[in-house]
Amino acid sequence: MHAHELDPQRPNPARMYDYFLGGFHNFEADREAAEAAEAAFPGVRASARANRDFLRRAVRYMVAQGVDQFLDLGSGVPTAGNVHEIAQAANPGAHVVYVDAEPVAVHASEALLADNPGADIVHADIRHADAVLSARQVEALLDLNRPLGLIMASVLPYIPEDDDPDRLVARYRAALPSGSYLTISHGSVEDFDDTETDSVYKVYNSSTSPITSRSRERITSWFDGLELVEPGVVVVTGWHPESGDTPVKLRLPHYGGLARIP
Ligand SMILES: C[S@@+](CC[C@H](N)C(=O)[O-])C[C@H]1O[C@@H](n2cnc3c(N)ncnc32)[C@H](O)[C@@H]1O
Repeated sequence: MHAHELDPQRPNPARMYDYFLGGFHNFEADREAAEAAEAAFPGVRASARANRDFLRRAVRYMVAQGVDQFLDLGSGVPTAGNVHEIAQAANPGAHVVYVDAEPVAVHASEALLADNPGADIVHADIRHADAVLSARQVEALLDLNRPLGLIMASVLPYIPEDDDPDRLVARYRAALPSGSYLTISHGSVEDFDDTETDSVYKVYNSSTSPITSRSRERITSWFDGLELVEPGVVVVTGWHPESGDTPVKLRLPHYGGLARIP
């Protein structure tokens, strides 16, 4: 079976993430794997929540800079605080295109967005950047000649080295006109010893999409040449924190940053 076909028996990271965030679009196998990951390395759930809060703050920041159109790659199962809700709350005319490869995420997004003329979802693998950028929904809702907010929140861990994440980020960056913003977040286990993290990897590696950890330095390199917004690439809880953030003790670092395309 292809990694992105629906298989309720096999844990899937999109649905595990949904479970961690308190959503309902998950199956028994996802819940069991999520609990196994959390038991193996307490802090995976907190890391998911902190990432989601970072995403909300990043979108608000971009809207405040005047960005009114967003492309959210690996957008996930819709849950509380989706990008279009945050953006359209601040600017009702904002347009958002989501992209995800997981059928449950796509179907749930389609249902949620049916009555929203400013938002849509593309069912695609983000590794096929040309297909994503020329998708019908992108052409209908986004103007790639105007500043755009490109979001890659916690999706690059699912792009293995063999698929060249550096090239993929560069390809999407190249499509962004001046004044656009790039937002990236990415989990990292670089500061932990293998015995602690092996068990988490085992859980994810038995899922439909294995994950890859990357160092803060590597994540920062994806912003090279751009105007990195202060405080740079940091543990997500430290990026423009707000009082409404879920209080979490972040054991598993999740790095995040946001930069302007000059
Ligand atoms: C951890 S979730 C992150 C969701 C959301 N971006 C957030 O930060 O809250 C990762 C999402 O990326 C999606 N994904 C992973 N690899 C993908 C790929 N190659 N193409 C499209 N989506 C992908 C998964 O299906 C999942 O929904």
